[in-house]
Amino acid sequence: MNPVKVGVLGLGTVGGGTVNVLSRNAAEIVRRAGRGIEIVHASARDLRKPRICSTTGIKLTQDPFEVVNNPEIEVIIELMGGTTVAREVVMAAIANGKHVVTANKALIAKYGNEIFAAARKKGVMVSFEAAVAGGIPIIKAIREGLAGNRIEWLAGIINGTGNFILTEMRDKGRDFADVLAEAQQLGYAEADPTFDVEGIDAAHKLTILASIAFGIPLQFEKAYTEGIARITRQDVGYAEELGYRIKHLGIARRTEHGIELRVHPTLIPYRRLIANVDGVMNAVLVKGDAVGATLYYGAGAGADPTASAVVADLVDVVRTLTADPENRVPHLAFQPDALSDMPILPMEQVETAYYLRLQAQDRPGVLADVTRILADQDISIEAMLQKPSAAGASDVPIVMLTHRTREQRMNEAIRRIEALGAMTAPVMRIRMEHLKG
Ligand code: NAP
Ligand code: HSE
Repeated sequence: MNPVKVGVLGLGTVGGGTVNVLSRNAAEIVRRAGRGIEIVHASARDLRKPRICSTTGIKLTQDPFEVVNNPEIEVIIELMGGTTVAREVVMAAIANGKHVVTANKALIAKYGNEIFAAARKKGVMVSFEAAVAGGIPIIKAIREGLAGNRIEWLAGIINGTGNFILTEMRDKGRDFADVLAEAQQLGYAEADPTFDVEGIDAAHKLTILASIAFGIPLQFEKAYTEGIARITRQDVGYAEELGYRIKHLGIARRTEHGIELRVHPTLIPYRRLIANVDGVMNAVLVKGDAVGATLYYGAGAGADPTASAVVADLVDVVRTLTADPENRVPHLAFQPDALSDMPILPMEQVETAYYLRLQAQDRPGVLADVTRILADQDISIEAMLQKPSAAGASDVPIVMLTHRTREQRMNEAIRRIEALGAMTAPVMRIRMEHLKG
């Protein structure tokens, strides 16, 4: 049988990795897919730029639409990034009846509903395994491997750059900006690295995971997002003293009132496996009613690990090229007419435990005022540390862990604590999860 002809849009970190993996493992891939896979046409912005892959035998262009309109191509691999040109080329590819593989989580999280609807109409596939957690086959695991379960919650370290930064800062005392520059140089970071640092990239991925876990439409705009820039070495140290690690987590949980969808720094007991996932590695914990807690671990970014997921999608597409479109795995795991309208909860209604660090003048009655405010909001304290003041400082850090409470109550408590005359800085609040299976 003739090889399947493929076009690649983007020859950067993931595009270059994909060309390399397809060529290195060509023989194995034919044995798996049943047909050869040949990249015949590719686009990039600057055709003179050095590449990490060989482009011999591939027709090159600066115009992605030229690839998308090439009639001999059956599958388009979109690895450009962004949501403007990428959206147009993906929609054009679908309109041309071509299958699409993409690593673009921003595109799927924001425009996936419209892209999948167009793909269904045309009877083509849109695959996006590489969009979440790099090389970890988490989409396949939830969509197919856990299809017998009612998923209760999932929590993941789903941004490699952010985890790399937190790990290097904690273990080597390195400076934030310096580690971010290294992550960019290694090809981990997004074109706009604030997406990594501010949790937007993780929120894109969490949006996708929540949809396939709970059978709801993609609703990126309702995700709560908080980044890692405010985390200090001091907080990392206090958390460790109390038996916790700070990780940047994406959490999606089904409650009786709706779905929690949130990305923020989180204290996790250091004994949990996920608390020990370091560097660029990602991990996703998924709790199903039948299977219990399951954990998926692997490289979350980088050329070859991400290419592993892109090529797996490509093999899936090639295997099912001749299958009846009605019998393919649905894009969002559930049949499109069976998606649920369960609401995404506003952050104020989310319940979690908290780490609080207060900077207060060291004088009688301050702690009593703080505990009264917490008691008024029905917030119960689990543990407390008062540290000596830093050399030359007149204030002292007070660190508290609370039991679970509603975010709205904690917002009110923090507002009232910050209004006390004895406070010398805003309250540092980090949410805390025990992630018990
Ligand atoms: P990248 O290294 O910046 O590569 C992007 C490629 O697209 C480059 O080859 C660039 O051309 C080309 N390109 C961008 N805009 C273009 C345009 N308007 N017209 C023609 N070509 C254009 O990015 P990447 O890291 O490979 O990421 C690609 C996608 O994969 C993104 O959606 C990203 O979120 C996703 N992803 C990345 C990783 C990772 O570890 N890097 C992991 C998972 C998913 P030039 O090279 O000539 O500039
Ligand atoms: N910038 C992303 C990360 C790439 O660091 O996780 C993988 O999606």
